[in-house]
Amino acid sequence: MKEKKDIYILAIESSCDDTSAAVMKNDIVLSNIVANQEIHQKYGGVVPELASRAHQQNIVPVVQQALKQANIDKSKLDAIAFTRGPGLMGSLLVGTSFATSMAQALDIPLIDVNHMQAHILAHFINKNQEPRAESKEILANGSDKATNKPIFPFICLTISGGHTQIVKVSSYFNFEVLGETLDDAVGEAFDKSAKILGLQYPGGPLIDKFAKKGNPNAYPFPKPRTKNKLDFSFSGFKTAVLRFIQNNMKENPKFIEENLPDICASIQNGIVSILIDKLKTTVKETGINQIAIAGGVSANSEIRKRLTENRYGWKTFIPPFEYTTDNAAMIGIVGYLKFKNGFVNDNQKLATSRLKVSD
Ligand code: KG4
Ligand code: ZN
Repeated sequence: MKEKKDIYILAIESSCDDTSAAVMKNDIVLSNIVANQEIHQKYGGVVPELASRAHQQNIVPVVQQALKQANIDKSKLDAIAFTRGPGLMGSLLVGTSFATSMAQALDIPLIDVNHMQAHILAHFINKNQEPRAESKEILANGSDKATNKPIFPFICLTISGGHTQIVKVSSYFNFEVLGETLDDAVGEAFDKSAKILGLQYPGGPLIDKFAKKGNPNAYPFPKPRTKNKLDFSFSGFKTAVLRFIQNNMKENPKFIEENLPDICASIQNGIVSILIDKLKTTVKETGINQIAIAGGVSANSEIRKRLTENRYGWKTFIPPFEYTTDNAAMIGIVGYLKFKNGFVNDNQKLATSRLKVSD
């Protein structure tokens, strides 16, 4: 029997403030290098112009490192996958131009990847061949096996700094948005609340950290209502946090300092409860009880805990930490799936800042 040829793909992600390159051998990650841009911390958010400049500085060493760690010569690559959008235009252009020139120089196909689809399809990365600490931890927690992948159709809650969506995924290439945020993304709700508390950007991981020692029921926050039951609205939540802090600081200027763990645990509990409630409604309305989470906020320990405890009778899929925040391995898995199915970028689709998950 003829042996099946392995497919090697270099993937590049540069949609926001992380420059990342990965090498895939089929659905297995050989390397996944991420260069974070610390420059944005002092501005309390991503500064687009600084991000694209940092991508320009990072892209060559990051790609070199990815090839080196994978122990692959570029002549072995079958295709190059890149993030087409959505994202910051200047940032996307750095990755897109680099991928285009490299593909031309090597005379191999280019594959355009939708960043939002990539967050979701990261669940199809083959974790089995490369057991990592994180996947073992999920196994130990019980609800999911690292070898398990969702079966179509499933629901994915995509929660990041730029997006909050409930998506019905019917195949690798068929996505339907059932609900989304009408204003701020859930990551922004974390980051903006953290900013009110005087914490550094991005504040999501810091709220998570301080929340570990706090009482989640110390201060209740309201759950915003939306017309479509599956949509989200977080701007009201952020305003409620601001008012709560301002009122308490008037009475006690040391309120934040003295109560930080309780405040963080309550904010985290408020946000995660909103997410879980929406998932409950989605399961009720669709009858689908396979739930995956994706995006940077799925690194949050409280949402991971509630989903792994499996209180709701759902089959849950939680990505390993390294595939939750922006990374090129998730672009690589989509590149592999598209390449295998003949979807290469023949018509030279270029960077675009706006792209729906269904595009
Ligand atoms: O997916 P991502 O890396 O970038 C975007 O495409 O937006 O998500 C970044 C977001 C930030 O808002 C960050 O605060 C949040 O994910 N985040 C967290 C945690 N880790 C990252 N939010 C809450 N808890 C965490 N542990
Ligand atoms: Zn992202």
